[in-house]
Amino acid sequence: MVRSAEVIEAMRIAGRAAAEVLAEAGAAVSPGVTTDEIDAVVHAACIERGAYPSPLGYHGYPKSVCTSVNEVICHGIPDNRPLADGEIVNLDVTLYMGGVHGDTNATFPVGQIDERSQNLISVTRRCLELGIEAVKPGRPISDIGRAIQTHAEENGYGVVRAFVGHGIGRGFHTPPSVPHYFDSRATTVMEPGMTFTIEPMITMGDWRHVMWEDGWTAVTADGRRTAQFEHTLLVTEEGAEVLTRLPG
Ligand code: MF3
Ligand code: CO
Ligand code: CO
Repeated sequence: MVRSAEVIEAMRIAGRAAAEVLAEAGAAVSPGVTTDEIDAVVHAACIERGAYPSPLGYHGYPKSVCTSVNEVICHGIPDNRPLADGEIVNLDVTLYMGGVHGDTNATFPVGQIDERSQNLISVTRRCLELGIEAVKPGRPISDIGRAIQTHAEENGYGVVRAFVGHGIGRGFHTPPSVPHYFDSRATTVMEPGMTFTIEPMITMGDWRHVMWEDGWTAVTADGRRTAQFEHTLLVTEEGAEVLTRLPG
């Protein structure tokens, strides 16, 4: 699970590019814009950088980005439905560049959103930051989920169990698994040179999910909204280096 210096250097470049593409995609979010139009923005932004959009063709996934609206937890497939004022949408960008992947996502408001949705988004963003702060060499991976679950539940929210963070590098999804709730089985000890994602999915109500018949789209079982943020990071001697954070 520890990456070579060459892979780490390539991941800094791919991570930065993924962050740029996510920012470009987020800037395209607006009432009336379809998720297919956002998919086209992501596809073009990847190609422009000499990168490949990792989702495209991944286990048969049909598009270049995941667009998860309102009650969609993750892996929503872009389509021709226009986004509406007051909705929230997660854009999950992964690209392949220089032989490695960079994976990052964020939840964006569509126009004006209500206070409850704003709070869900800010608590979820904070959950990711607290997860990153829990990254320390010598500590078990389970520390990350403990930090995230504590903050989510203090705010009355649920933590999705079915989808987890993952090792990433030359492969898109590699060991270890990074649960976002406390899981005593997550005993892998963090070591400098490991690279993985943290990507908490936080729900307004129950954390249980239902899968659509498309085999990808995961929605909350109770139909309430859910948000997610994701970074790819490197374990260092001190803690974590976030590879998908834009400078400034
Ligand atoms: N980017 C997602 C993740 O964070 C995976 C998307 S796989 C896809 O792991 F096929 F749905 F694109
Ligand atoms: Co990921
Ligand atoms: Co992702």
